[in-house]
Amino acid sequence: MHITSPAAGKLRSLNTRKDLLPVADLIELCFGRQMDADGWKYVHTIRQAAADRNQIRWMLGAGERIAYPLHGYVWEEDNQIIGNLSIIPFYKKGVWRYLIANVAVHPEYRRRGIARQLTLKALEHIQSLEVASAWLQVRADNAAAIHLYQELGFLERAVRTTWQRDSLLTPEAPAYPGYKFTGRAPQDWELQRRWLNETYPPDVIWNLPLEPERFAPSLWQKFVRLLNAEDYRHWAVRGGGKLLGIATWQASTLHADYLWLATDPHEEQEAIAALLPYIRGHLHNYRPLSINYPAYRAAKSFQQGGFRELNTLIWMEHPLASSSPFATLS
Ligand SMILES: CC(C)(COP(=O)(O)OP(=O)(O)OC[C@H]1O[C@@H](n2cnc3c(N)ncnc32)[C@H](O)[C@@H]1OP(=O)(O)O)[C@@H](O)C(=O)NCCC(=O)NCCS
Repeated sequence: MHITSPAAGKLRSLNTRKDLLPVADLIELCFGRQMDADGWKYVHTIRQAAADRNQIRWMLGAGERIAYPLHGYVWEEDNQIIGNLSIIPFYKKGVWRYLIANVAVHPEYRRRGIARQLTLKALEHIQSLEVASAWLQVRADNAAAIHLYQELGFLERAVRTTWQRDSLLTPEAPAYPGYKFTGRAPQDWELQRRWLNETYPPDVIWNLPLEPERFAPSLWQKFVRLLNAEDYRHWAVRGGGKLLGIATWQASTLHADYLWLATDPHEEQEAIAALLPYIRGHLHNYRPLSINYPAYRAAKSFQQGGFRELNTLIWMEHPLASSSPFATLS
């Protein structure tokens, strides 16, 4: 593997006391054109934290899954930060996972091996935490970054599209003769759980704000939901005497609330095409909605329901052996 080593540059740990502002500038410079509402909020929050260190404590306690850059590495050259990468820990079901995010190099310093060295350093760091692997997400249209990560040994694990509906001014709900819409019945839970597991498998659920067991129609889960002030709404669609799918609404403090879809794999397109317009008529809070879904599936049904593709991300994993192949490269 070819590694250039720009003599003038220095790779070091992120220092939240002095680096947050230049890191926010670099993220904006490198991602600005493709940033969505949450991306801009994210950069704004980093800037606020740079101005007020109390914010950092708040960021540490933030409940939503926003990847704040509290740990990571920067590349310093010509007295400025021209490269950055964040390492974000996630804890779910007793397992820690680490996501490499915000990999960015100033346009004037690219193709000199800086991103490669930052990523290798991050892999070394994550390996020292004794976890089985490192993760990252890259836009499916970012050929340069995909090439870099493949070269470093990252493997594709999933491709996911985020569908978003910003406005309620979506096409009128078409009539679906023969379909019946109801609330979710307790006996629907077994199928819902199985289908949710298919749509949100273990390789992706760790990075989503989804806890399917919270949807269980048990007294205990009702108590847990009350305790956590969690609010969900379920809608079921039935046809030909059987359950075809269930959609669940979940509130969020981000730009859009979430919808989680559990559908019969053989009736996926029809069930989604029927559910989305129906929900539109039954959610009255006028908030945008966001759906994370396996890429390239049921696209027409989402579009008909007034959703647009916000992004499609490849989720990549780098298995880590116990002895470090990266130490010599840093
Ligand atoms: C992607 C990015 C971080 C790469 O930074 P970089 O420092 O230029 O990357 P490196 O010099 O370390 O490149 C390492 C390898 O990646 C691949 N690569 C990087 N840029 C590439 C490009 N424009 N086209 C094709 N391959 C590219 C090459 O294989 C390269 O190795 P080589 O130069 O020996 O051929 C940088 O282009 C960037 O900041 N882009 C905008 C933000 C972004 O998309 N970040 C990735 C988010 S997941």
